[in-house]
Amino acid sequence: MSEAFYSQARLYDLMFPGGGPAVDFYRADADRRGGSVLELGCGTGHKLIPLASDGHPCVGLDFSSDMLAEARRKADERGVAVEWARGDMRAFDLGRAFDYVFITANSLLHLHEAEDLVSCFRSVRRHLAPGARFVFDVFNPSVRLLAEADGVRRTRESLSFVDPERGRVSVDVAEAYDASAQVTRGTWHLSTDSEPDFVVAPLELRSIFPQELPLLLALGGLRLVERFGDWSGRPFAEDAPLQLCVCEPA
Ligand SMILES: C[S@@+](CC[C@H](N)C(=O)[O-])C[C@H]1O[C@@H](n2cnc3c(N)ncnc32)[C@H](O)[C@@H]1O
Repeated sequence: MSEAFYSQARLYDLMFPGGGPAVDFYRADADRRGGSVLELGCGTGHKLIPLASDGHPCVGLDFSSDMLAEARRKADERGVAVEWARGDMRAFDLGRAFDYVFITANSLLHLHEAEDLVSCFRSVRRHLAPGARFVFDVFNPSVRLLAEADGVRRTRESLSFVDPERGRVSVDVAEAYDASAQVTRGTWHLSTDSEPDFVVAPLELRSIFPQELPLLLALGGLRLVERFGDWSGRPFAEDAPLQLCVCEPA
């Protein structure tokens, strides 16, 4: 249900310019482990292009051909070699194993059914070389924030950006939380003064609660080795913004 959102790859990069502590974390972590890297849900390559420029042989897999095209364009422009693959993280077979597999920026939360998450973890496990690690980050659901998702459309000032082709773009989001599915269903509206709602796209993200996460991993043949609560490596706690998880084969 989020494909339309990712069909706007150029606008996605203007709205979410990348960089910051997440890139620093994955660069340092992949360097510490060494070797080949696979990112699932790689998008336009915010993290993978820097890792490839550090010298790792990199493969990026994504569902969206628009996001992959933008990723390829940026990597080519920077002279960085990355293998881009169109595929579904729920079930994929790249025919080889990797030293480091990661999923970042809540991409995993596009899988809403428990079966899909388990199937993804099983596919990841099949792609882990001996001694490899699987690392992913998802937000830590806050029941207070989830309860505030009341379906009302509001402007997100912090996401507004300037599009060289259109001028200033404002971003409004209306979100409601479906508690039985554990999914926040949002509609994103992008507007300029002269073109209101030139993009209207759904974006739906599951919540994975802290107690279910190790169980889903175990069903996928993986074991949670460490869980951090932020990019500095603080141990996970109830008020942590993130679940930054390091896993190995069970
Ligand atoms: C929030 S973006 C993150 C992109 C990138 N990892 C980053 O850090 O900027 C989520 C990405 O996951 C991709 N995605 C969603 N569901 C997928 C699936 N089932 N298989 C592969 N990619 C998927 C989307 O196309 C999108 O590019």
